[in-house]
Amino acid sequence: MIKHFLSIESQTGEELTNLLTLSTKIKADRDNPSERPLCGQTWALIFSKPSTRTRVSFEVGIRELGGSVIFLSQNDIQLGRGEPIIDTARVLGRMVHGTVIRTFAQLDVEKFAEYGLIPTINALTDEEHPCQILADLLTILEKRGSLNDLIVCFVGDGNNNVARSWIWAAERLGFELRIAAPGNYRPDASLLARLTNRKIIVTDDPIAGADRADVLYTDVWVSMGFENESTERLRELESFQINEQLVARAASGALVLHCLPAYRGKEITEETLEKHAKTIFDQAENRLHAQKAILSHVRK
Ligand code: CP
Ligand code: NVA
Repeated sequence: MIKHFLSIESQTGEELTNLLTLSTKIKADRDNPSERPLCGQTWALIFSKPSTRTRVSFEVGIRELGGSVIFLSQNDIQLGRGEPIIDTARVLGRMVHGTVIRTFAQLDVEKFAEYGLIPTINALTDEEHPCQILADLLTILEKRGSLNDLIVCFVGDGNNNVARSWIWAAERLGFELRIAAPGNYRPDASLLARLTNRKIIVTDDPIAGADRADVLYTDVWVSMGFENESTERLRELESFQINEQLVARAASGALVLHCLPAYRGKEITEETLEKHAKTIFDQAENRLHAQKAILSHVRK
């Protein structure tokens, strides 16, 4: 059966744990890898949104695993002129060994996987950013030693792709997750209704959310594709910022994480970002190691 990595929701807790174990091993063996599982393979990256970390980490990761990469911006291929995703998938599926897709609709990534019949990885949709959350969990595991008794507080737009992947991670792995978000930016009620982990809570009080948390996490207030809502988002999310006052409420030695890119003075202050820069850029580096684990796991 062809394996894909389309969302955190579609993973089991055991699969996530195994991917974290593999990420740790791949990171440790980076300079002396025991195998190159993508040897002889060519992978395509199809990106319809900008990217620094995801693009570079996948390009480097595929090469380090022995494969070759073709980067395809939506505007360079017929997809940008309206060729259906299912036809793009059927063509690429005859030529490349796997695809990494960054786009808007989750359904497009799912359709690609269904019609391309090659391993397909979600590199961010409006729905989820699963590769990011695997790297984030790896970072927490490294810094904290385990994910046991973990309390994570996500501060900001609680209905965006990163927040949603955090929710599914907490659902699958059972840790405590507090989403601190104003009313219009709460996770969808229909999503919350599907959860069984009673330790996933939503609050409109960031101070209550941060109380004794082990991890404070934030993301941009204006996600890609939502630029037309910038004015109201900046206004409504103004008090959902990670700053020194909020960090003081968290557990002593709490980790501050940011998926990046960061907008200083918006979702995080310059002071807090710089104080936690070592962790935040370790987190960015972990995209490479976690995605090499994902690639190794799904490859044909
Ligand atoms: N965090 C993240 O996905 O960054 P990029 O948009 O630069 O890929
Ligand atoms: N929520 C952000 C994540 C960026 C990596 C976005 O979708 O733009």
